[in-house]
Amino acid sequence: MKEKIANLMAEINALAINSADEAENLRIKYLSKKGIITALFNDFREVPNEQKREIGQLLNQLRTVATDKIMSAKENFATVNSVDNSLDYTRSSDPIALGTRHPLSIVKNEIIDIFSRIGFTVAEGPEVEDDWHVFGALNFPPEHPARDMQDTFFVTRNPDVLLRTHTSSVQSRVMTSQEPPIRVLCPGRVYRNEAISARAHCFFHQVEGLYVDKNVSFADLKQALLYFAKEMFGEDTKIRLRPSYFPFTEPSAEMDISCNLCGGKGCSFCKHTGWVEILGCGMVDPNVLEACGIDSKVYTGYAFGMGVERITNLKYQVKDLRMFSENDVRFLQQFESAY
Ligand code: DAH
Repeated sequence: MKEKIANLMAEINALAINSADEAENLRIKYLSKKGIITALFNDFREVPNEQKREIGQLLNQLRTVATDKIMSAKENFATVNSVDNSLDYTRSSDPIALGTRHPLSIVKNEIIDIFSRIGFTVAEGPEVEDDWHVFGALNFPPEHPARDMQDTFFVTRNPDVLLRTHTSSVQSRVMTSQEPPIRVLCPGRVYRNEAISARAHCFFHQVEGLYVDKNVSFADLKQALLYFAKEMFGEDTKIRLRPSYFPFTEPSAEMDISCNLCGGKGCSFCKHTGWVEILGCGMVDPNVLEACGIDSKVYTGYAFGMGVERITNLKYQVKDLRMFSENDVRFLQQFESAY
């Protein structure tokens, strides 16, 4: 009996099953009512009592091995057969169209990347602000026209709750909550009550820069901006600073770059001047430092602010500002970038 079981075990282990039919035949041969293994169980009654335990175990083992092998083969072939052969399962699925980043995000990220290489980190603030952070701390006199209904969106009847008109508000937040040295970029969306046209929108985007430390000079500002202009628009780009006025900087300037479309020769884009304006900047007014609790006798700082739409237009020549907020995929899909 023992020998028989061992031989059958070897036989079953050696079986190669190639189809569901073969598996079924083997099941009948070994495991059905009249099958070889079932017959052995009948013979088992004849085994002397003292051998029953050992032989019983071997017999059970044999049945388990045979059942596992034959039934799992049967199952496997059954699954294969249920596959619909009229379908081509090797075909790739329909390609899913990948989205692209919004051009304003691409340019914003590039600006952040350029300034992060000279030590700037990013600071953000709320879009719904109070008067003090947007105007008061930044040296806007109470009667300044920027506070006027003409420019500012007020959120409630309370004139102290408004949509920020520039990201300079984040300057006031950073300066009141951090000690110098401060070196931050403040990107974000801003709102102004303007009629929407190809050249103006009621919301747009800015990146503000702020550096406050001991001995920060106008020369530092100029150097940082020259570095930025070359990184953003190419090594040959030139800059020029024109005197200007902002309440929060003294002295203040506006910066032009040599027109990146005509290389400074003059074209319709730069109105034949060879220069295009890209940002406002200046030395942080001591009044602003003091209002935010920074000792203006110890610290100085520079600040600059640029419109992301403006920089994007220079890079990509988008003629109509409204394109940025229409979400037309035909427009958006034209921008591919590492940023
Ligand atoms: N906040 C100004 C604006 O919205 C831009 C600006 C100009 C920011 C000069 C600055 C700056 O930090 O120094 O028009």
